[in-house]
Amino acid sequence: MSWLFGLRKEQPPEFPQFPSDTTGMSSGSGSEGGGDQGGGGDDKTKGGKMEAYRFDSTALERAAKAAKDLERSKFSKDALDLSKMQEHTIQLEHQKLIKEYELQIEQTKMDQARIQQEERRKTMAEETKQHQQRAQYQDQLARKRYDDQLLQQQRANEENLRRQEESVAKQEALRKATLEHEMELRKKNEMARVEAEMKAKAKVDRENQDLYLEQIKLKAAENRTTVLESIKTAGSVLGAGFQSFVTDWDRVSATAAGLTLLAIGVYSAKMGTGVAARYIEARLGKPSLVRETSRIAAFEAVKHPIKTSRRLFSKATDALQGVVLKPSLEERLRDIAIATRNTQKNKGMYRNVLMYGPPGTGKTLFAKRLAQHSGMDYAIMSGGDVAPMGREGVSAVHKVFDWAGSTRRGLLLFVDEADAFLRKRSSEMISEDLRATLNAFLYRTGEQSNKFMLVLASNTPEQFDWAINDRLDEMVEFELPELSERERMVRLYFDKFVLQPATEGKRRLKVAQFDYSKLCSDIAKVTEGLSGREIAKLGVAWQAAAYASEDGVLTEKMIMERVWDSVEQHKQKVQWQTAEELKKIKTKMSIKDMAASVVTEKKQIATESSSFSSNNTNQSPPIS
Ligand SMILES: Nc1ncnc2c1ncn2[C@@H]1O[C@H](COP(=O)(O)OP(=O)(O)OP(=O)(O)O)[C@@H](O)[C@H]1O
Ligand SMILES: [Mg+2]
Repeated sequence: MSWLFGLRKEQPPEFPQFPSDTTGMSSGSGSEGGGDQGGGGDDKTKGGKMEAYRFDSTALERAAKAAKDLERSKFSKDALDLSKMQEHTIQLEHQKLIKEYELQIEQTKMDQARIQQEERRKTMAEETKQHQQRAQYQDQLARKRYDDQLLQQQRANEENLRRQEESVAKQEALRKATLEHEMELRKKNEMARVEAEMKAKAKVDRENQDLYLEQIKLKAAENRTTVLESIKTAGSVLGAGFQSFVTDWDRVSATAAGLTLLAIGVYSAKMGTGVAARYIEARLGKPSLVRETSRIAAFEAVKHPIKTSRRLFSKATDALQGVVLKPSLEERLRDIAIATRNTQKNKGMYRNVLMYGPPGTGKTLFAKRLAQHSGMDYAIMSGGDVAPMGREGVSAVHKVFDWAGSTRRGLLLFVDEADAFLRKRSSEMISEDLRATLNAFLYRTGEQSNKFMLVLASNTPEQFDWAINDRLDEMVEFELPELSERERMVRLYFDKFVLQPATEGKRRLKVAQFDYSKLCSDIAKVTEGLSGREIAKLGVAWQAAAYASEDGVLTEKMIMERVWDSVEQHKQKVQWQTAEELKKIKTKMSIKDMAASVVTEKKQIATESSSFSSNNTNQSPPIS
């Protein structure tokens, strides 16, 4: 094709049998034809053969002519470009189609992968469901087994107890009878002996009365002479000594100096001991503000070596052992516990934590567990102890931090009821001493420390001084337990105070037969609003009820009675609280009203006086 458009430099191949010029061709054929005519018969056969191969070449000729025309035409290059572009366009279209096909293939693959993923997810969900069901079923089986075991154990225990009681009662009756008989005999013998002795003594006394009187008289005379003689001797010795002492001035002055030195020595020794004791106490002893600590003083270590070594080698416990909280909160607290433990191990800087929320929700409980888990020592101080210390508060606070600084394991300083002394300094309710104490506290906690971790607990953190808020790194809210947490707590304390004493220990508690598990769920439902502390106290109340009952058996009815008591008491407390709050609001309102009425009265007086004065100025001339 390219040779047609004159792109290739070489000449187009020649076709000798098809001359390019039609005129030449005709002339050629004419001459050939002339030659043929002169050729004879042989030429005729040749001509026949040629006829057989001849075909209509006009089309080719026309094409060749058109090609030539095109070659000669000035648009030949454009035409070529156009054709090239067309070809290129067609190629691009083909590529586009290929890409589209590829895209479709990719899409199909992705769809397949998505479907497979979906299938896998469904399968996994199904498997998880089955696992859960299996676990639930096994859990139910285990509980049932446990309940049955408990029941059997209880029955066996009761039977044993009954038999033991019977045999003990028999033995007791026998022993009592023997003892009574023995006592009777002994009493008779004793009476007879005493009577005989008395009679004999009276007889002897009567006989020896004169002898006794003589003896007494002699003793008295001897005593008198001894006393008189000793007085005489002492008087003469002292008199002579004093006389010689007074006449010898050297001795007098030496004695005076000696006595003075002795007095000074006694006084300075007393003072020195006091100062040393105070120094040792500040360095080693527990500061007075600290109520409870796990740190072991040297004195205590000597006094209780076993307890001390047990505490020293105790393993870190789970930070949430025995603490029942919302799962999200548990997760957060576990993170804090792990971080604290790692900080303690790596001697890093501790973070300060605030735990706030209603009373009895586990703040103190968790703080102690946190300290045990992290391997740190802990010290608990109560904010309420600071205010009564007055001026001593400042030095007491410094003492606490000095003491905290001397720890090797790191100290978790837990300030319970922290709002009692960390309240706003701007408040008028706070005394000068408390303000100074708070300043000392702020001074000692201004920087992050690798010695102590500050954990504050409060029911009303909104009262905190702003500088305290600024020192907090973590704030955790403890809320009242919800249904599922209440149920877990009820089970925990039922187990601790009822089931465990029923199966272990010497003094066994007896429990009637009922569905414990269902009862715990029911109790959780009716104890809405109760705090963890109130639920823990329920456990104690059940135990006390069992020990106080006549037959010592704890029944379902007794348990529910205690629950209803608790619920009623809780309602009463809530009523008191709301009444108190209403009263506070009312007092605030009435103070506001009073202030507002005073302001309006003042305004009225001001307007009245101004109108009065303006009237006066209008009516009468100013007094000059
Ligand atoms: N979340 C809980 N899980 C288990 N027991 C709890 C929980 N909350 C409270 N208790 C029980 O109540 C008792 C008192 O709790 P704790 O002293 O920790 O309360 P608190 O939040 O510090 O209250 P307060 O604000 O009055 O000081 C605990 O010893 C424990 O028996
Ligand atoms: Mg507390």
